[in-house]
Amino acid sequence: MDHIIIEGGQTRLQGDVIIEGAKNAVLPLLAATILPTTGVSTLTNVPILSDVFTMNHVVRGLDIAVDFDQANKTILVDAQGQILDQAPYEYVSQMRASIVVLGPILARKGHAKVSMPGGCTIGSRPIDLHLKGLEAMGANIRQEGGDITASGKLHGARIYMDFPSVGATQNLMMAATLAQGITVIENAAREPEIVDLAIFLTKMGANIKGAGTEVLTITGVDKLHGATHQVVQDRIEAGTFMVAAAMTSGDVLIRDAIWEHNRPLLAKLMEMGVEVTEEAQGIRVRSDLSKLKPVTVKTSPHPGFPTDMQAQFTALMAAVKGESTMIETVFENRFQHLDEMRRMGLKTEILRDTALIRGGQDLQGAPVMSTDLRASAALVLTGLIAKGSTTVGQLTHLDRGYYQFHTKLAKLGANIRRSSEV
Ligand code: UD1
Repeated sequence: MDHIIIEGGQTRLQGDVIIEGAKNAVLPLLAATILPTTGVSTLTNVPILSDVFTMNHVVRGLDIAVDFDQANKTILVDAQGQILDQAPYEYVSQMRASIVVLGPILARKGHAKVSMPGGCTIGSRPIDLHLKGLEAMGANIRQEGGDITASGKLHGARIYMDFPSVGATQNLMMAATLAQGITVIENAAREPEIVDLAIFLTKMGANIKGAGTEVLTITGVDKLHGATHQVVQDRIEAGTFMVAAAMTSGDVLIRDAIWEHNRPLLAKLMEMGVEVTEEAQGIRVRSDLSKLKPVTVKTSPHPGFPTDMQAQFTALMAAVKGESTMIETVFENRFQHLDEMRRMGLKTEILRDTALIRGGQDLQGAPVMSTDLRASAALVLTGLIAKGSTTVGQLTHLDRGYYQFHTKLAKLGANIRRSSEV
């Protein structure tokens, strides 16, 4: 099993780093390629990640041709002709996000059978909002034998979401593109990945208004055609490198990072005293760790502080002298990385959704295990500032969402390597 080994303590990251296309954008974009009955769809700027391979398998399982040209970071999908209506357990069970194929399959075929996605370490993650929305659009839904079976001809509906779920918004938006009549989704998620999906669907011939706001209005059309789309940049990968630069007194240009998408993170970095500037080629992050101040951060749906940056930001809080507070409101069990960071000497107290972090203490390298995707990045970042050697295991989590993470950090000056020998 692979490990990442970091010799930390003295690292000052410098240089520039290239960001990939967003994992959380490409997964629903791939689900959207199920919809068109004519033409081929092409996605460019696709990140080479294990979650992308999993989603490709899910789509192929429907008898759809998926060709991933990794050298050119391009995926071609041909969903013309007859497709199947069942997404197999083998791949759906590997990745919760595969539930977003339910809406497109149902909308196109009038019937869909998708395995219930499995549990998740960061919380219970129900899919009630996905199912309630589809029911409001006329779907008949049954759950049995670990599968969700949905059937019926979809019609427009007015749907209020109790919580602005990203996945549910995507599922319903895709289903509504082929439903008869107008669907209004209120309290919709506003993440940049929702906007990216709406742009792609619109290129396919869908009629969607309001993407990026709380109210989405989708007027159903009879059919969609294939389209070409460049996947938006990964704001979470970009944010991870911003944090890495900040906590190592670094000076890093994050190429092609989009200010607008990272606004809540940038605001907190500036509040801490980190210098962030928008340049023609991206966002530059410069910092002097000794001058940074502790802050309080609360995660919430976009445009709030992203829960997917919470773990990495706690690594920065650990580096900054003083007491910082992190409040996690999106997922109920997303502080597991702090237990691993305690093994490196972190002083932290957790009470329900709030973690108090006493930063600026000397941290020592230690063997640690990734507990989830973003936790794995946070542990690597902590390894950069801990004295001595840190070994991060369970890299399957990291590989779901970061392409060549250690290589990119090494290029910025980190003493880091990946090994399968530990
Ligand atoms: C997406 C992201 C994930 C990110 C999360 C929140 C992808 C592939 N994944 O996940 O990286 O951490 O958004 O920004 O884009 N909920 C319900 N019922 C539902 C659906 C969700 O109660 O039917 C709850 C969840 O338990 C959770 C919250 O809503 O507490 C947010 O979940 P959601 O926005 O749906 O996250 P995902 O789409 O799964």
